[in-house]
Amino acid sequence: MKQINIGILGCGTVGSGTARILLEKQKLISDRTGINVHLKSIADIDPTRGKDLPLADGVMTTDAGAVVDDPEIQIIVELIGGKTLAKELITRAIDNGKHIVTANKALLSAHGNTLFPLAAQRGVDLAYEASVGGCMPIIKSIRESLVGNAIGSIRGILNGTCNYILSRMTAEGCAFDEVLADAQANGFAEADPTLDVDGFDAAHKLAILNAIAFGMTINLEDVYVEGIRRITPMDIEFAADFGYTVKLLAISKQTNGAVEARVHPTMISHDNILASVNGSLNAVTVSGDCVENVLLYGHGAGKMPTASAVVSDIVDIARNLVFGAPGRIPALAYRPEAIRTIPVLPID
Ligand code: HSE
Repeated sequence: MKQINIGILGCGTVGSGTARILLEKQKLISDRTGINVHLKSIADIDPTRGKDLPLADGVMTTDAGAVVDDPEIQIIVELIGGKTLAKELITRAIDNGKHIVTANKALLSAHGNTLFPLAAQRGVDLAYEASVGGCMPIIKSIRESLVGNAIGSIRGILNGTCNYILSRMTAEGCAFDEVLADAQANGFAEADPTLDVDGFDAAHKLAILNAIAFGMTINLEDVYVEGIRRITPMDIEFAADFGYTVKLLAISKQTNGAVEARVHPTMISHDNILASVNGSLNAVTVSGDCVENVLLYGHGAGKMPTASAVVSDIVDIARNLVFGAPGRIPALAYRPEAIRTIPVLPID
């Protein structure tokens, strides 16, 4: 069986989740793909972060540069976050001819217009499913499943922290600061929640989706952004009296060849499907001229849901490297020992 070697940069929440899937689901993945997707190295400035993972000796390292330069590694998975070091290491890995997987929406929304052409020039992939919507396959849906559609609009809840805060304000009538402090104390919201609550995290994600949906360069500057800090329990109560729920929505609409993009608190009717998306869940509807509307719903953040999306990109690249087009044919379909369905007796 052909082996593809993976190097992960960053052993934080998503990095350790990704390592866990690669280590614990190695057989599942190789059964499904016919490829041994092998975690060769994981780099972090703090090597103790890998202590709960079943890592073989020598897999954990503090030397991210050595991972990026390792000639035996074909896929580099950047999960450091931030823009400076992440950009430096991705650029170096691309120069080295490595394929890249990243979840870094802040980086892509700021530097995607440089990094994507660089990857294309070097003939490597730069995959980013986990950068928007956690486990929801929103990138692949727009780029692949809906490729035959002219996209009319994208509307969604793309920030789990804001949705969690607004959901609790709605259910419990408490104030923004109170819920935020509680979320931070429970390790749910970031210590610095600015990007989330001021709407920028959702704007980063919307700018990335716009590029795929509307064929634009990534353009963060033109996204109108307003966060949820000023929403009060009274706003939410008044909205409810009129049959509306307050949600932070990210909205893009194409009209006459131009795209209007905005992120702001929005009153949506109680019978709109997005109104019932609560807690830290995300949901997004995409309208296309052939399909009308497609809805995706799921965990937009969190260790294992986000790691699941990262692994989907790793496996996509591995399939292309090993098999090319036939890589998408499920291995189980032609394995003689594949699990079979059990005949079910008819119910009378
Ligand atoms: N801080 C983000 C959120 C994490 O709350 O949705 C996932 O991008």
